[in-house]
Amino acid sequence: MSTALLTDKVVVVSGVGPGLGRSICTEAAAAGAKVVLAARTESRLKEVAAEIEAAGGETLCVPADITDDEAVANLVRRTLDTFGRVDALVNNAFAVPSMKPLARTDFQQIRDSIDLTVLGGLRMTQAFTEPLAESKGAVVMINSAVLRHSEPRYGSYKMAKSALLAMSQTLASELGKQGIRVNSVAPGYIWSDQLKWYFGEVAKKYGITAEQVYQQTADRSDLKRLPEPDEIARAVVFLASDWSSAITGQTLDVNCGEYHA
Ligand SMILES: NC(=O)c1ccc[n+]([C@@H]2O[C@H](COP(=O)([O-])OP(=O)(O)OC[C@H]3O[C@@H](n4cnc5c(N)ncnc54)[C@H](OP(=O)(O)O)[C@@H]3O)[C@@H](O)[C@H]2O)c1
Repeated sequence: MSTALLTDKVVVVSGVGPGLGRSICTEAAAAGAKVVLAARTESRLKEVAAEIEAAGGETLCVPADITDDEAVANLVRRTLDTFGRVDALVNNAFAVPSMKPLARTDFQQIRDSIDLTVLGGLRMTQAFTEPLAESKGAVVMINSAVLRHSEPRYGSYKMAKSALLAMSQTLASELGKQGIRVNSVAPGYIWSDQLKWYFGEVAKKYGITAEQVYQQTADRSDLKRLPEPDEIARAVVFLASDWSSAITGQTLDVNCGEYHA
């Protein structure tokens, strides 16, 4: 399925976890990229890197907290020392947000969410602007279908992701003259292990099967199924690659047609 859209490119992925982060790394590597993996848990980075290397890919693992200036500066140094260039930066980091109604959400939880999602993404983009300008590279921000709805209890998450979108659009305008493109990918449901577990719990609660929960959820989309992590990751690979060379400031919704943006 993957073509060599990223041959000889260096792609930095921040917030590599077991879900979408892992898939973005493996799909970028399958498309020919050398992949720099960053998150706080080194053992997870090494697991994903081992998978890529077993398939013949090249990686660098740098444990980093993207809310920390020095950790991000170290990530830039290690990346340039190892590969000498950066062609794309993908900001994927995620921490489970407060799921309380906004009226009862602690302000510190909202601040933490904005600190990670918005300022973390900005810190990473600022730190990598110089090498990205040299390569006329791309930034991809991982957003969410929470942009498209206002369901109760998603308020804290929606505030952070909406601010991330606003920031991405301004960065596209400001960095465009240096040849840097900034785009967003907005997934909805992702058919990951996490969601499989959750549907199992919902099924138990309502006395139905997990397959029924899946189908009821999928029926709300045009394609009547839920996207696999690799399908989201391939949209990221496209926006990181030169195949999207005239696309900037845009959001690509990847949700099997659940929402039409
Ligand atoms: N999962 C979904 O259903 C879904 C739906 C729509 C959108 N999204 C978006 O897709 C993205 C990925 O979600 P996912 O659930 O699949 O996550 P994931 O890729 O499995 O993991 C994200 C990773 O971010 C890392 N992270 C958190 N705080 C960090 C920090 N301060 N510095 C560096 N790394 C940090 C965590 O690793 P460490 O703890 O090791 O740092 C975590 O494992 C997110 O932006 C999310 O909003 C997800």
